[in-house]
Amino acid sequence: MSKSISGFSKLTKSKKIDWIVDTYFSNTEEAKRVLIQYWNTDEKLQQLHDEFIENTITNYYLPLGVAPNFLINDRLYTIPMAIEESSVVAAASKAAKFWLDRGGFKTRVVSTTKIGQVHFIYKGDFNKLSQFFSVIKSKLIEDSKSITSNMEKRGGGILDIELRDKTKDIDHYYQLHASFETLDAMGANFINSCLEQFATTFKREALEFYAFTEAEKQIDIVMSILSNYVPDCLVRAEVNCKVEDLSESDSISGEAFAKKFVQAINIAEVEPYRAVTHNKGIMNGIDAVVLATGNDFRAVEAGVHAYASRKGTYSSLTHAKIENGIFSFWMDIPLALGTVGGLTGLHPLVKLALELLHKPSAKELMQIVAVAGLAQNFAAIRSLITTGIQQGHMKMHLMNILNQFDANNEEKERITAYFKTNTVTHSAVVEAINKLRE
Ligand code: MEV
Repeated sequence: MSKSISGFSKLTKSKKIDWIVDTYFSNTEEAKRVLIQYWNTDEKLQQLHDEFIENTITNYYLPLGVAPNFLINDRLYTIPMAIEESSVVAAASKAAKFWLDRGGFKTRVVSTTKIGQVHFIYKGDFNKLSQFFSVIKSKLIEDSKSITSNMEKRGGGILDIELRDKTKDIDHYYQLHASFETLDAMGANFINSCLEQFATTFKREALEFYAFTEAEKQIDIVMSILSNYVPDCLVRAEVNCKVEDLSESDSISGEAFAKKFVQAINIAEVEPYRAVTHNKGIMNGIDAVVLATGNDFRAVEAGVHAYASRKGTYSSLTHAKIENGIFSFWMDIPLALGTVGGLTGLHPLVKLALELLHKPSAKELMQIVAVAGLAQNFAAIRSLITTGIQQGHMKMHLMNILNQFDANNEEKERITAYFKTNTVTHSAVVEAINKLRE
């Protein structure tokens, strides 16, 4: 039976580990060894990681891979990707190479506005609240000056604040709905600090507003928080080429490929069961770059999926068409990213990833990340409508199976060679290992 503990966060790292292994593991020495083998020998680097979060006991590795040959707006990029799924980097690299020979990816940032809200309860006359808001609006902005002045010097800041009546949804519920430009910062801390200041000013000034009754003066702030739904922080990525240029082999003509590709996209546009998997494939590319560049992939995921359902049904993020002999494939995607602040200046691998990407601005990073998503989707659809997904997947998964069976280097070499011309399935690999070991 496991037991609860108080004051855990105050224990030293080694005492935390002692408690965990004693409480949850039968082989305490082995559990300790596994945890400790991931500690970095560079104590300063380890301390940096220890201090990212509370109760760090070790490091959790993901591979950092790179996908070269991405031509984006006529500039070449090698894209860093942190991901565990075996086929993702290979698929990205393949798609990059494919489009390198066909003009590359074109991208543009459509908009960069982010949103935050103060949610509050007001029990009174809406006209008076509206009048109060018009009087107080400039004060809300003025009181936030100490937070916004640096951002304003660089051209960003608060764009607008609106009063929104939400009483149709919940009795007495209103919002201050604010929009922000946060430039190269993802902006979560900036936006949340502004919102909390708005809330303080709003509540304080309400107490003084001449037209409010005593009851109306008691504005109840529920919460102040940014929104990860960012439909106006949008980037477009696309590829175009002549239909006949799509063909790479004799097995399928460019025209047949384009038609089938568009059909596959159309299905994901109308069928939510397919759309979720389709978009998951896009997120394979997006999350890997978002993570490698020290951004918040949970925020991106939440915002992207909300955007994919904005018309009331969950739908494909990508679209494709054939027009006048030209195949076009594109995606609009909301991405709130930063290239300053947060982990970006702190995590050595994040700094390295950003340097690899030519030290991008947030707008440039939005475009690179969108391309990674579009490329990933292209690679997935291409496999799905031609060879099927398992061929590529299982080829890449082969090494995982071999590692599960503790194959040595010679066994790996011989089995990989065998499966160059044979279909990889889990049972076929197990059979090949057993045969080799007989
Ligand atoms: C697997 O991680 C992603 C795919 O399922 C995406 C798709 O079906 O489009 C291959």
